[in-house]
Amino acid sequence: MNESDHWNRVYEEKAHEDVSWFQQLPSISLAAIDRHVSGHSGAFIDIGGGESLLVDHLAARGWKDLTVLDISGSALAVAKQRLGEQAVMVRWIIADITRWRPERQYDVWHDRAVFHFLTHRDQRIAYRTAILKATHTGSIVVMATFAPDGPERCSGLAVERYDSRTLSNELGSDFELLEDWREMHQTPWGSGQSFNWCVFRRV
Ligand SMILES: C[S@@+](CC[C@H](N)C(=O)[O-])C[C@H]1O[C@@H](n2cnc3c(N)ncnc32)[C@H](O)[C@@H]1O
Repeated sequence: MNESDHWNRVYEEKAHEDVSWFQQLPSISLAAIDRHVSGHSGAFIDIGGGESLLVDHLAARGWKDLTVLDISGSALAVAKQRLGEQAVMVRWIIADITRWRPERQYDVWHDRAVFHFLTHRDQRIAYRTAILKATHTGSIVVMATFAPDGPERCSGLAVERYDSRTLSNELGSDFELLEDWREMHQTPWGSGQSFNWCVFRRV
């Protein structure tokens, strides 16, 4: 089974509120964006956004230039349906981030729980190629990965775990670390998952 089949099956078999990464309110992402981005007129992209409610909340706050990219068309179909008429305000891209060729640049790049699935060096190099193409000097990058004491697997897949130093090393010197913190995410069934969050600015 390839990766898009895997993720489509996950989303087709499970309701949004039954996956470990579910959040009713993506409050940490919203607060990070509020702290580092002034105004709502920038271009925002959620990498591996899946069925996340983040774009709904950003649209409600007045953001107009919103894009969600995910390898799973099934996840994006659910998110589109949920947004109803507002779905036309969002650009939806079905793509593998390691193969995607960005056609424009974004002021804000958000990735919650996607980069850590890239367990092969070639995939991480391809991710870096994409982020360099899709951001500009001053772009803000918000990334959350499993922390060193976080889960070793998620959704049946192995993951890499990061602290802020190792994630900074992956992104390279084009990205300056502005802020980092830990979060103990509570899954819908009440277990804790240790995440490491970083905010970078493209220099
Ligand atoms: C753990 S979920 C997180 C979803 C969302 N970011 C959130 O916070 O609710 C990981 C997401 O990454 C997507 N994904 C996994 N590998 C990907 C890849 N190579 N390219 C794009 N999306 C990918 C999956 O389909 C899934 O939606």
